[in-house]
Amino acid sequence: MYDLIVRGARLGGETVDVAVAGGRIARISSRIDGTAGREIDAGGRLLSPPYIESHVHLDTTLTAGEPRWNESGTLFEGIRIWSERKGSVTREDVMERATQLLRWQAAQGVLHVRTHADVTDPELVGLQALLEVREKVRDWIDVQIVAFPQEGMISYPRGTELVEEALRLGADVVGGIPHYEHTREMGVESVKETFRLAEKYDRPVDIHCDETDDPHSRFLEVMAAEAIRTGMGERVTASHTTAFGSYDNAYAFKLMGFLAKADINFVANPLVNITLQGRYDAYPKRRGITRVKELWQNGLNVSLGYDDVMDPWYPLGTGGMLQPAHMTVHACHMTGRREVVACYEMVTTNAARTLGLEGYGVAEGGGADFVLVDAPNEWDAIRRLASVVLVVKGGEVISETRPPETRLMGEVVDFRREGREG
Ligand code: FE2
Repeated sequence: MYDLIVRGARLGGETVDVAVAGGRIARISSRIDGTAGREIDAGGRLLSPPYIESHVHLDTTLTAGEPRWNESGTLFEGIRIWSERKGSVTREDVMERATQLLRWQAAQGVLHVRTHADVTDPELVGLQALLEVREKVRDWIDVQIVAFPQEGMISYPRGTELVEEALRLGADVVGGIPHYEHTREMGVESVKETFRLAEKYDRPVDIHCDETDDPHSRFLEVMAAEAIRTGMGERVTASHTTAFGSYDNAYAFKLMGFLAKADINFVANPLVNITLQGRYDAYPKRRGITRVKELWQNGLNVSLGYDDVMDPWYPLGTGGMLQPAHMTVHACHMTGRREVVACYEMVTTNAARTLGLEGYGVAEGGGADFVLVDAPNEWDAIRRLASVVLVVKGGEVISETRPPETRLMGEVVDFRREGREG
């Protein structure tokens, strides 16, 4: 007698039954005899480990239009609007909005989220709110918080102290924003400070690095050098690195070899960077995204984030992770057969590596955290921007979605499911 059996799911190219007992995956087999408290017919749908959000800002989310919409669509109008909205930020306000987005994400099969919390605020209101949210939602979604000095660590008064205070209060990861510091030298100093704090408090690093079209913004090399010096490579993440898309090829080639040695993780945020970057270009306009394809081809770990969902910098979004994966396929020329699947991995297995998750994946004896996707495989999940119809966390069904049914002249037309299977 099991707690749950999911029958007829696609996993690793095979059709299997999956039995769950005591919060763990008890068995995976082509046919499981026996009964369960609940049986679910997967109908040939993909059984996947949960989606992972590698980079989002829960403290600014769901404020789009408050007090006004960003009509120019630029980063700088976004910053102006946020400074107007900031006055009405309270702990309750942040908690309510952050929890709402986490609910949207869990409902869409996202069970791990890394959020940045702006700590350039002497009261640390957003950080305190997100620490409280992290504990309140613990049973259904896992949240990691980055102590992120939005207005600079060295340039902002007591910036480094505020980051350190956030770590003492329980932030999981040390952040930074070197390209925003007043000078190149201050940027270099901030990267070194981030690593110093990471070593002192034994925390991973996740830096907003070179999020600009300026080809002279070269803090990624400083991060890589620090990762090599400290041996922290796999616990280090370079987020955005959009300037990498603007470096000349001679420098990019040298850098790529150096990055492979550093063994750091990369997070691209294609939805936001394709819209925020390139704003100062005449035609041809740059795409403003890091070299996802080349990083992937060189064996570096790349995962994806939303960055913003309905805030002054990006008015759209649902929190579903197939949207950034779908955008990556397009904006980063990842349309090859294997490349599309690689983009799926960027919101699942690669992201697990970025977040340093242990025991992630669907395997006998492992934790029963998985989702059923309304598609037969990963490739098709991206093509269809498929819904997640079932979310299982710790062996419990926490979310169910009824797939839509469309009738044309009285007959079911299943354009969501018909098509070429790969
Ligand atoms: Fe960000």
